[in-house]
Amino acid sequence: MNTTSKPKILVSRAIFPEALAELEQSFDVISNQADVVMTPEALASQLAGVSAALVTGSERIDAKALAQAKGLKIVANISVGYNNFDVPAMTAAGVMATNTPDVLTDTTADFGFALLMATARRVTESERWIRDGNWNQWSIVTNPLGMDIHHTTLGIIGMGRIGQGIAKRALGFGMNVIYHNRSRLPEADEKACQARYVDKETLLKEADHVILVLPYSAESHHTIGAKEIALMKPTATLVNIARGGIVDDVALAAALKAKTIFAAGLDVFEGEPKVHPDLLACSNVVLAPHIASASEKTRRAMIALAARNVRAALAGDKPPSLINAEVFAK
Ligand code: DGY
Repeated sequence: MNTTSKPKILVSRAIFPEALAELEQSFDVISNQADVVMTPEALASQLAGVSAALVTGSERIDAKALAQAKGLKIVANISVGYNNFDVPAMTAAGVMATNTPDVLTDTTADFGFALLMATARRVTESERWIRDGNWNQWSIVTNPLGMDIHHTTLGIIGMGRIGQGIAKRALGFGMNVIYHNRSRLPEADEKACQARYVDKETLLKEADHVILVLPYSAESHHTIGAKEIALMKPTATLVNIARGGIVDDVALAAALKAKTIFAAGLDVFEGEPKVHPDLLACSNVVLAPHIASASEKTRRAMIALAARNVRAALAGDKPPSLINAEVFAK
């Protein structure tokens, strides 16, 4: 095949070599296997020369990034969340925006539950406690004591696919599930999750464990701050697998230090990959490096879906997970 006839595409971060090789069969690929995050200027200049791009949440796609990208048809996020996209700017530029829903739902819901369990039962703190040489004898009262998961109330904020996946897992633990969402679920979905819709304040007051699974936007910024934490039970845990910025990390660190709540589990952070030093100083927080979707199988499936989106767009078809359908309709 004559390589010069292949459309040029950008893959902004490292992907699995087999996935890259597959893309290279159809496209002239500019890849970033060194996995160094591009500056906004470097990204804009790379986008200027390609028909499509596969990107991650590290790349902000806005009017500035698109200013010179006259031949760009699609930017495919390898991620379900797309708060790195300025969708109106992409639509105005005639660029299709896609994400990777569904393929990561179960893996992410599993991890939400894992983080909840680790947080309530002090799993990582216990490991540190052993490594620090504290385990001299078994004790009923002094070994790290946690909070129960089973037969407690789980409050889920954000009841999309992943939130519903977590609710279904909670049923196996005999939990009472309450949720808050921008809009109430259809009755059949509520029934399938055995979840009760409540307002945010009621959820924060009643839940033994609160888990955040809502998308980030200007409206959801600091959904949980000092005021909201003050409503929670002192025995409660807070888990964030949504996005940094949904929780006010400084307010949370202050609450963890003061033991206003029992513990927190965080997979995402304001300003990640930096973690606020006040959080690092708290022992009652479980920290993870944004890995909720990170099983190898799922990460491969996310790349494959992003690639399918690109292939469809460049073939003139509607990408399977198109966000701004109005661009395709043009
Ligand atoms: C997602 O898909 O949104 C995950 O958080 C990875 O970015």
